Amino acid sequence: MMSEENVARFSVSANRALLEQFDRMREKKGYQNRSLALADMMRDQITEHQQEVGDEEAAGTVTLVYDHHQPRVQRALTALQHDFGASIVSTLHVHLDHHHCLEVIVVRGRSSEIRVLANRLIGAKGVKHGKFTLTSTGKNLPS
Ligand code: NI
Repeated sequence: MMSEENVARFSVSANRALLEQFDRMREKKGYQNRSLALADMMRDQITEHQQEVGDEEAAGTVTLVYDHHQPRVQRALTALQHDFGASIVSTLHVHLDHHHCLEVIVVRGRSSEIRVLANRLIGAKGVKHGKFTLTSTGKNLPS
């Protein structure tokens, strides 16, 4: 829990319709009050901003779907993961069907480095779909 001395109060002016939409979203998401919902949105935006402008220590996941019958795709993905071994925490492999594999690669390191790794994995020939999600390690983010 937040201790009272770390809490700052401020008032926010907003368009009435916008506030109604915000309240509907907040209720659907299960936030008990506006402060909790707004604080989460602030953390989310700050994380995104830090990743855009900075080169912070970050963590994330790269999700790949590929057809393992495609020549060389598996070899290319394995080679990349060995090249960037220091940035890779764990890899989960799921055989989706006869053709398709799903791979979720947990990455950690400087955000610029893991972004390069993610782009190369997603851009590898034979990868049908890829998604990179970057998040903070939580260090530079107050609760
Ligand atoms: Ni597979």
